[in-house]
Amino acid sequence: MILAMKKNIILIGFMGSGKSVLGKLLARELNYSFIDCDSEIEAQERLSISDIFAKYGEEHFRRLETQMLKQLCGLDGAVISTGGGAVTIDNNIPILKEGGIVVFLNASADEIASRLVDDTTRPLLQCEDKLQRINNILDKRIPLYRQTAHIIINVDGKAAEDNLKELLLRLSLLL
Ligand code: S3P
Repeated sequence: MILAMKKNIILIGFMGSGKSVLGKLLARELNYSFIDCDSEIEAQERLSISDIFAKYGEEHFRRLETQMLKQLCGLDGAVISTGGGAVTIDNNIPILKEGGIVVFLNASADEIASRLVDDTTRPLLQCEDKLQRINNILDKRIPLYRQTAHIIINVDGKAAEDNLKELLLRLSLLL
């Protein structure tokens, strides 16, 4: 598929909603580059996300994230996977919306909890009751994801290839 304009496609959604997997498939399909915001921050800081949180705290991470989002959203023809908390900073919402077509991967708390049951890389989810933590954070974020998105894909119980097909169809209708 060839998109008329080389607009960025920006994936948003909770941790574990499948942004990176779908983003890589989409980039290959569109012949776009794939860029992961967290990986770019890790490379720039030469620290893992967990270490940035542990050494400097979440606020510092959010500042780095906003700077990186500004840079990445200024590109053309990229599929950009964002961190799940990108929408929690007010200023990021216009950056995302103006940076390209924003796609929200909507996953339920149960789905996320089952996908991330053994995950140790998300500092915000290192706690006893992961499902409760996911529910608490997700409830606050859902309205923000919805308000930022141009396209919403429900991902529960679906394979990445099915989400790709649906997204390609939705993009072709939009452009
Ligand atoms: C976060 C999501 C993570 C990462 C950091 C904070 C969040 O990215 O940015 O751990 O606040 O939801 P992924 O959504 O790619 O896991």
